[in-house]
Amino acid sequence: MSELSHKVAQWVRTEIRDIAAYHVPDPGDLIKLDAMENPYTWPEAMLTEWQQLVRDLPVNRYPDPAAKALTVELRKAMGVPDNMGVLLGNGSDEIIQILALALGGSKRVVLAPEPSFVMYKMIATFSGLEYVGVPLNADFSLDMAVMEQAIQQHDPAVIYLAYPNNPTGNLFDEEEIEAILKMANGLVVVDEAYHAFAGKSFMNRLGEFDNLLVMRTVSKLGLAGLRLGLLAGPNEWLNEFDKVRLPYNINVMTQAAAEFALKHIAVFDEQTRLIREERSRLFAEMEKLDGITLYPSAANFILFRVPAGRANAIFDGIKQRGVLIKNMKVSSGPLADCLRVTVGTQRENDSFLAALREAL
Ligand SMILES: Cc1ncc(COP(=O)(O)O)c(C=O)c1O
Repeated sequence: MSELSHKVAQWVRTEIRDIAAYHVPDPGDLIKLDAMENPYTWPEAMLTEWQQLVRDLPVNRYPDPAAKALTVELRKAMGVPDNMGVLLGNGSDEIIQILALALGGSKRVVLAPEPSFVMYKMIATFSGLEYVGVPLNADFSLDMAVMEQAIQQHDPAVIYLAYPNNPTGNLFDEEEIEAILKMANGLVVVDEAYHAFAGKSFMNRLGEFDNLLVMRTVSKLGLAGLRLGLLAGPNEWLNEFDKVRLPYNINVMTQAAAEFALKHIAVFDEQTRLIREERSRLFAEMEKLDGITLYPSAANFILFRVPAGRANAIFDGIKQRGVLIKNMKVSSGPLADCLRVTVGTQRENDSFLAALREAL
């Protein structure tokens, strides 16, 4: 080991050195159907209006630490009940990190069903919390017996339930989530990142359970580049979490762009409607193919399983034909041989379908 590597090993925490860095592939010129982005851009008139607004943005000043004007639009767009608070993050990733900072400590546990969004585990691990993953049933529903046992055993500080779940795309049973809210002593965060495609939500149930918080993001709606997420729930919780939020975490450009975009929410509603329509068509077309198993999705992506041992070859085959999707890269367990495709525009989806047919 070189002297430098030795120093790094001496000072960087073991948990961090053991984590594999979150890898984001470079898409180059490929059709990008790997990251659950909205494929549509803004109408010309909206772009012109935005360009004028940008000219006057005071980037020499720090942003409004409370992002007041943006919060008004967000509350409206997301249907946050009037008596509930809102905490903003630089993406919902940052909210997960804020929660880890506020709730962390030795023997504090973060619990989530598995497979689910990888950041719950990564952020828990690098923030020094223990992480407990509870396997889902084979059909990706919650295994309530194991869940209950794990909650009793670990008394988690926070449970994350992605609703719909990533990467499986399904919505967990509403009554089972209620049961978890009742049995958990700590917080339950219902992560509604894919709300725009799901039609179901716990937002209007805030206040019914004192440990329920709802997390949303504007990323999947069509504003992934802005990095903006929100946590809604009782102010008793949020006021505490706000103390660990960095004061200017939502920058001037993001505040202005998101506020402007949400004032044009009809544009995004129409785009997400098109994506839901394309999801049905893509699903129906994929169903016609032999050898793949499809999982119904309430999100803007579809998880599918290919014949055993062929996921890497099929993923590469699709990529060679110009389309980048997500290879779950597992050879055993519930996601064995699974690939995940984000729903794109009609043309992008057609390119993917053609590539998949040839690669299979
Ligand atoms: C379930 C879930 N929650 C949160 C996020 C992160 O969202 P953001 O872009 O707001 O950090 C993702 C991103 O893929 C996700 O799948």
